[in-house]
Amino acid sequence: MTSYEIRSMTQSDIPQIARIEKMVFPSPWSEAAFRSELNDNAMAVYLILADEAKPEEVLAYGGLWKIFDEGHITNIAVTPKSQGKKLGKMLLHAMIQWAWSNDLSHMTLEVRVNNHVAINMYKKAGFVEAGIRPGYYSEGKEDAIIMWLHREKREDQET
Ligand SMILES: CC(C)(COP(=O)(O)OP(=O)(O)OC[C@H]1O[C@@H](n2cnc3c(N)ncnc32)[C@H](O)[C@@H]1OP(=O)(O)O)[C@@H](O)C(=O)NCCC(=O)NCCS
Repeated sequence: MTSYEIRSMTQSDIPQIARIEKMVFPSPWSEAAFRSELNDNAMAVYLILADEAKPEEVLAYGGLWKIFDEGHITNIAVTPKSQGKKLGKMLLHAMIQWAWSNDLSHMTLEVRVNNHVAINMYKKAGFVEAGIRPGYYSEGKEDAIIMWLHREKREDQET
């Protein structure tokens, strides 16, 4: 059985992450954007999920910004060949655990209204819809659903 590890993002992960971004997002972040997150943004935390036997290969990554006691998820993605194998769920749960272990009390994110896979994943982790940002995404003017997860409700959620 495959064992996975979750670790912090490093500079050497960034080219792979930028390649995955291009494959999975209509408006991918650039390598420069991730470098800036890592080097210049003290609020940013990025986690990588990899096969323990191949730790240098990024299978999934996710990031958040710590703003007061809130964790704002910036992005979460699984490389296309590894999607649908519970890795997104595993990484999201690690991000939530990281947040609660680092004194955050709430997590929030925006997700495209048509991204049913991601919405399902967030709901299963306990996130609830809190509103819509109309035309939030520049290309296509697609709406975003705003979701929140509150720490005190966590014990009731499926993990
Ligand atoms: C969204 C994403 C991170 C999910 O990761 P994943 O590894 O593919 O998903 P998982 O296998 O961990 O499944 C997690 C949950 O998502 C939902 N899900 C997964 N595949 C699904 C599908 N084909 N249809 C509907 N829901 C699905 C399920 O609720 C699933 O939980 P369950 O298996 O317990 O029912 C991944 O598909 C991805 O990178 N997509 C492109 C980038 C993206 O949209 N990121 C989110 C931006 S907000």
